[in-house]
Order: sequence, then structure tokens, then C-alpha cells
Amino acid sequence: MTTALIILGAGMGTRMNSELPKVLHQIAGAPMLVHAMKSGGALDPAHTVIVAGHGADLVEAAAKAYDPDVTVAIQSEQLGTAHAVSQARSALADFDGDALVLYGDTPFIRAETLAAMTAARLTHDIVVLGFEAADAGRYGRLILKDDQLDRIVEFKDATDAERGVNLCNSGVVAANAATLFDLIDAVGNENAASEYYLTDIISIARARGLSATVVRCDEAETLGINSRSELAQAEALFQANARQMAQEDGVTMIAPETVFFAHDTVIGRDTVIEPNVVFGPDVTIESSTTIRAFSHLEGCHVSRGSVVGPYARLRPGAELAENVKVGNFVEIKNAQIAAGAKVNHLSYIGDATIGARSNIGAGTITCNYDGVFKHHTTIGEDVFIGSNTMLVAPVTVGDAAMTGSGSVVTRDVPAGDLAVGRAKQENKAGFAVRLFDKLRALKAKGS
Ligand code: UD1
Ligand code: CA
Repeated sequence: MTTALIILGAGMGTRMNSELPKVLHQIAGAPMLVHAMKSGGALDPAHTVIVAGHGADLVEAAAKAYDPDVTVAIQSEQLGTAHAVSQARSALADFDGDALVLYGDTPFIRAETLAAMTAARLTHDIVVLGFEAADAGRYGRLILKDDQLDRIVEFKDATDAERGVNLCNSGVVAANAATLFDLIDAVGNENAASEYYLTDIISIARARGLSATVVRCDEAETLGINSRSELAQAEALFQANARQMAQEDGVTMIAPETVFFAHDTVIGRDTVIEPNVVFGPDVTIESSTTIRAFSHLEGCHVSRGSVVGPYARLRPGAELAENVKVGNFVEIKNAQIAAGAKVNHLSYIGDATIGARSNIGAGTITCNYDGVFKHHTTIGEDVFIGSNTMLVAPVTVGDAAMTGSGSVVTRDVPAGDLAVGRAKQENKAGFAVRLFDKLRALKAKGS
């Protein structure tokens, strides 16, 4: 069955107390909306419609950055969840498969759960995702009758007996798209909130002789985010899960609770991650590498056998080939470092290419920025860059060349040459002793 996703994200999210639309707040480096899109992606949807309202331009940009093919439907007034879903109608006018409604603020629905809903659709017209709540609070309650879902009652409209029901509505619903829009047409707003409730489609459907059922999932899966505190809980949940998956994939973490993954971090088998490592988005670490303590990595690729850190920073475009060493207090940005090269101490390497087996001495800096433009530094193979060399880009150092420590290199260095670009040393005989004597005498006089 082909599926279209309708992801609701028009709400203001008042409790976030934020300028940013709620669904754009991030978990593991990606907006929660993108997590919801990823989760729905498990059904390989033919269409995805995002219903946006508050901050619609920003929501659209974030959704399209993840999937350029999404349609964004605008709900300019938030009149309720049924009204929100109806905004997707024209985008799905020619579509005759199933519609699955997801919430942009409910990011963790598992693929298995969506598959169970798809399976239940084979026998029922409408499938609602429900969960047994530890504390049912203000959730809508699922009211069963015989072996069917009979209706959903919102907390505000529920009787005491109905509030006693623990089976709650997650908000996720699947039905044939045309049926769904038909049912929504019949939804009114005579209720405690004067809103068009999507949940009303169940009683309308049952009255029309359609069938409805509930698929159950863990409460953690339907965790909805309404506040900063819930956002932090969602982050913690994501991290706990990501750490466990990394361990199952053969990654060793000495203190897993101190390692933070992004939504898309990929780490190979037999890699060791020391404590307090943070991964930003778009990182791939191959097998058998070591990421040492207190390192921060984003937008980079680290190949097999490399060692990074402690206290290293890899920024977007850092590409480490096999067996590269990047040591403490080294920052690497937009640079390709070939196999076996070493940048071990206190360096900035940006907009650069470093050839195989080259050694970059402590304190070396690629001076890549002239205040307006960025320039490239090219270092060949088997090069020895002396400590504290300033490589003023654009500049090229040929294969097997050397630079003297403390050099400011402004011109290209041919292969095999030694470049020394610093003031020549002069020793003044006995000068230090005379100077010290003079200074100590001044101090003794009390000046
Ligand atoms: C909804 C359900 C409730 C369920 C709960 C689960 C209804 C009437 N109630 O309640 O049964 O237990 O979710 O979390 O559906 N939205 C729009 N436009 C609107 C209104 C809402 O896009 O006009 C979006 C919101 O941005 C949010 C989602 O729909 O992503 C849910 O809306 P919300 O107001 O939070 O619904 P609840 O009252 O929590
Ligand atoms: Ca809610």
C-alpha cells in the first residue's frame, strides 16, 4: 500500500517560550520535525505533507533541507488537529493510498510500530496508535467497545469515568486518504476547546459502519515535546538509545553516559571512544579508530586506524585518511589529511591538503584567511613542517620539503628544499648578566 505522511506542526508551542517554532527545536542536532520525517520515512512514503503555521517559512526551509520533495501546507489559523489535517487535502488531491498522520513534536515512533499499523489497516478502516500511560494526565482517552475502537474523548470533554481510562491517544492515525478527508468534513467544533478535533473522526466513522482499532506502543515512543524540560528528556532518551546501538555495533565507550551522538553519527566496529566526546551532525568514523577524551567532531570523516585527540576539534570538511594522528589542541577544518600524516600538537589546519606521512610540527598554523577571502595550503608527501610555522596561504610546500621552526612561509617551497623564514639569530656576549645586574640593582633601590 502506498502511504502519504501528513505531519502536523502548525502549533505555536507556547510552553517552549521561544521565538523558534516548536518543531524546529533540536534533538541530537536535528529539528524534531526531521526526526518525525525520518521516523515516517520507514514507510517509504509517496508524499510527505508538512502542515505549518507559526514560523511556516522556517519550518518549510528545515523540512526541505532534509527532503526537497516535501509539500508544505499552510494552516494560518490553528483551529484544531482535524482542521490541520484538512490543509493537506489539495496536496493529496490525486493520491488514492493511505494517509498517516504524525505530529512534528512526537519524534520517536519506531519503524516496527508503523509497520504494525500498516498491517492492522488490512483489517480495519482506521488505525489509531495508543499507549497505556503511567500517568494519563491530559491525553485523549481511547474508548473501546466490543473489539473495536468506539471513540476518542479529549480530556477536557471527558467524564470522570472516561478520565479513569488509561489507554491514551498518541495522535498518530492511519486511514485511506479519501476516507480520512471525508470524515474530517463531518467534524464540528462544539466541544470544550471550540476546536476541530481529529479525534472525532472515530465516532463519525463508527456511525457510518466503518471499523476502527488500536495498535499499542510504549509510552516512551509517543513522547510528545511541549516544554524545554521535555526537550531535554527527549534528548536523553535519544542519547541512551544511540549509545546502546553503538555498543551493539561493536563500539567501546569507557563512559558511554558522557558521549553524545548526533542523529546521523556513523561509527565503525572496534572503535574506542573515550569519555566526554561530542559528535555534531554528519560524522563518519571508520572501524578501529580511537577518539580520545574531550574531542568535538562535526562534518568529518575519520578513516580506519586513525587516532584523534585528546582535546581535538574536527570541523566540517575534515577528511582523515587511514592511520592519521591528530593530537591535543588541534583544530582541523576543510582539510584532507593523507594516510599516516601527523598533526600532533596545538595546531590550526584549515583549507589545506596534507600529503601522506607528513609531520606537522607543534603550533603550526595555516593562515587561511586574509580578512576577506579564504586561501588554500598544499603540503606534499613526506614533508616536515617545523614547529610554529605560519603557512600564509595560498602556499604550496613540495614533497619531502622542510620548514625551519618559527618560519613565516609566504612563498612556495619546492620539493626537497628547506625554507627558513625568520630573523637570523645573534648572540651578544655577556649581555644577559649585565642586564640582570642592572635590573636587580634598580629593584634593590626600591623603584
Ligand atoms: C492531541 C490529541 C489528543 C492526544 C494528544 C497526544 C486532538 C484533538 N487531541 O491533543 O487526543 O492524546 O494530541 O499528544 O487531536 N496542530 C496543528 N494545528 C492545529 C492544532 C494542532 O498543526 O490547529 C499540531 C500541533 O502543532 C501539534 C499537534 O498538532 O504538533 C498536536 O496538537 P496539540 O494542540 O498539542 O494537541 P493536544 O491537545 O496535545
Ligand atoms: Ca500536545
